[in-house]
Amino acid sequence: MPLKKTQKREHWASKFGFVLAATGSAVGLGNMWRFPYKAGEFGGGAFVLVYLIAVIAMGIPVLIAEFIIGRSTQKNPVGAFRALRNNKFWPLVGWLGVLTGFVILSYYCVVGGWILKYIFSSLTGTFQTGAAGVRFESFLASPAEMVFWHGIFMGFTIFIVRGGISSGIEKWSKILMPAFIILLLILMINSLFSPGAEKGISFLLKPDFSKLTREGILEALGSAFFSLSLGMGAMLTYGSYLDKDTNISVSSLEIAFLDTFCAIIAGLMIFPIVFTYNVDPKVGPGMFFITLPEVFASMPTGQLIGFTFFVLVAFAAITSAISLLEVVVSFVMDEFGWTRKKADYLLGFVIFVAGIPSALSFNLWSGFTAWGGKNIFDILDSLASNYMLPIGGFFIAIFAGWILTHGEKEAEIKKVENAFHFYDIWHVLIQYVTPVALLIVLLYTTGALSFF
Ligand code: PFF
Repeated sequence: MPLKKTQKREHWASKFGFVLAATGSAVGLGNMWRFPYKAGEFGGGAFVLVYLIAVIAMGIPVLIAEFIIGRSTQKNPVGAFRALRNNKFWPLVGWLGVLTGFVILSYYCVVGGWILKYIFSSLTGTFQTGAAGVRFESFLASPAEMVFWHGIFMGFTIFIVRGGISSGIEKWSKILMPAFIILLLILMINSLFSPGAEKGISFLLKPDFSKLTREGILEALGSAFFSLSLGMGAMLTYGSYLDKDTNISVSSLEIAFLDTFCAIIAGLMIFPIVFTYNVDPKVGPGMFFITLPEVFASMPTGQLIGFTFFVLVAFAAITSAISLLEVVVSFVMDEFGWTRKKADYLLGFVIFVAGIPSALSFNLWSGFTAWGGKNIFDILDSLASNYMLPIGGFFIAIFAGWILTHGEKEAEIKKVENAFHFYDIWHVLIQYVTPVALLIVLLYTTGALSFF
């Protein structure tokens, strides 16, 4: 493919802005939605423990690898691999990343739309006891409403990405992420004063290893990966807007810490109210859209708390969605010389259209199932998070661990950052631990391995 000479590369205006934007990408529905209910399902603290190990052994090493590849080339995922090793294979890993971004964004915006719909509903005062389940069902059953809110969410995403790196993504992350963290802490403190606080905390943090099945272990590994936005070049792309004086290892630790912190705080916000109102903590994905609204309806200040809760989740979701769109946008800008405006509007629209089947999979197309009864939405989610991300992550780890030379890597991280032999520790993890762990996850998911 001819490489067109493109616009001058944009850069983050500050290190702080970059860390917030990357944290914004990481903190999303994965933390707020997936993490708490998976923790609830697989033994609370035992799950959290495996999750933490996964963040340290696989998450942080791949995060650093993506930043190294991105910053050293200043390019999108495809261009970055091609710039480093121009052969038939490695650029394909970039292609896989761009495709994964496309797929995840298409259904992520559908859930984003549900959240906007709930914000809207809470403004019009419609949390009612006993009705949340029925309301959610009837919302899911309405194709027009689902597609409408999906489109609105995509509209916000397109709007922010249109502003570019420093005056779009960074500017909005600097507003939305601090607001998110403040709201999260306020709601958590409010929950900790509820009668169910003690039970909620021990449910989340006290390890119950008997519930930690092998499925739970794999889920913890996969969740850590999804939650840190790894394996598809989103962090690689954000890294490509970095300048040389940002410390990659310190930033990576900050981002991973903030992401994990937000996941745990989200659990500390949710479980105390779940126990106060005696609802089953293992209700799965419906927890967000049925259980919690039900709880809000029976709280004295539930309308306000419910509204705040969904605003908070919307902020988390939108800062993740923009990073997904940015991967695809930066790819066509770099590779085909499109302007940001054209890439953003056109691809945003195409991905919106690609998301419609996911929205319809809850109503008109609900009869279409495959892969053990999964609807289109679930198929895409499972394909992307259980297969595409770990495959992408595996090859990124191999590339960083075995293909790049020490010289290439040290140019990005050793120079300024050799305290605690950080580079050496990272290198052992990315060469051996991370790829082996990801390979086990993959083999197990594909059914090739079933011994443990
Ligand atoms: N990290 C996001 C979340 O936890 O919801 C999801 C995500 C965003 C995954 C961006 C991958 C990505 F590139």
